Amino acid sequence: MIRDFGRQAAFLGAVCLLLSGCSGEGGIGQTAETTGQGRPGQEEQTEKGGLIKVGFSQLGEESDWRIACTESIKSALTEANGFDLLFDDAQQKQENQLKAIRNFILQDADYIVLSPLVESGWDSALEEAKKAKIPVITSDRMVDAPKDLYTCFVGADFVKEGERCGRWLEDCLEKQGRADEDIRIVTLEGTVGSSPQLGRTEGFANIMKAHPNWHMIAEENGDFTLAKGKEVMEQYLNRYKNIDVVVSQNDNMTFGAIDAIQEAGKTCGPDGEMIILSFDAVSAAFDAMIDGDLNADFECNPLHGPRVSETIRKLENGEKVAREQYVDETYFDTTMDLKQIKADREY
Ligand code: AHR
Repeated sequence: MIRDFGRQAAFLGAVCLLLSGCSGEGGIGQTAETTGQGRPGQEEQTEKGGLIKVGFSQLGEESDWRIACTESIKSALTEANGFDLLFDDAQQKQENQLKAIRNFILQDADYIVLSPLVESGWDSALEEAKKAKIPVITSDRMVDAPKDLYTCFVGADFVKEGERCGRWLEDCLEKQGRADEDIRIVTLEGTVGSSPQLGRTEGFANIMKAHPNWHMIAEENGDFTLAKGKEVMEQYLNRYKNIDVVVSQNDNMTFGAIDAIQEAGKTCGPDGEMIILSFDAVSAAFDAMIDGDLNADFECNPLHGPRVSETIRKLENGEKVAREQYVDETYFDTTMDLKQIKADREY
């Protein structure tokens, strides 16, 4: 009963956030229902040892990035930090994520954190969470759903990542004296319909518009995995004689692509035949740049654990949370002191 009141308060807070304009410092916690009341169900917390029950639906373990992300969430949402984490790995299947959400509802979770495989297809499961008065935080990727069905998003701005990549290429071609040459580009796309695939594609295309001499000759799905990245790159190499640039939408596909290029007796990287551009900037990608196989890497930060736990804490305390919380990101290339930068990074 007390718990239900609490959840309702959190939910009403989310509605207020939406009514307050759905952006920037929205108003969860601004209402009388949540401010100063803490979460919902605090009396019941004694029964549960005071832990906040969080169901986390992770989409899979397809990449180094994903493993770092899971680790970050698991090490932030610990019992020592006041959380009871229900973890589910959906193995890259949306149906598994839908089941997980429903299980979290059945298990009476206080919050649901969802890293969705793709953007569409969530409405009915989110409606069920809303009905059960469980706030949903989407993390890493976004959902394409009515805004009243989730509380907030914590993750990267993938369009900006794609634009950063396009601008880096502009600059590189300028420096190489190739700004006016015809440039043949292939893309290894991530999971079709996922936020990083959609955003990075859109961002790069935004920059391409200014360059009629850049030709995107192929864009195929490598599903963010090394094996698929290698397979698609092998097909590209068989199909096209001249490829100037490979845009690979994550590091694991890039590792597969580099293997395929080298096995075909070709070269890539700053002194090679093909420019390779990648996303994520995981540790092994620094090695690929240091080895001279990869030109540049556009960061995607996977350390969402502390951001998600802080968001839940704020909601618990009735404080404001931003409706969309974007992480600051940058890029790395072979002009930098990569060994030093790698040594200072967590993933
Ligand atoms: O959603 C983030 C993307 O998903 C990362 O770029 C990729 O490595 C992961 O699989």
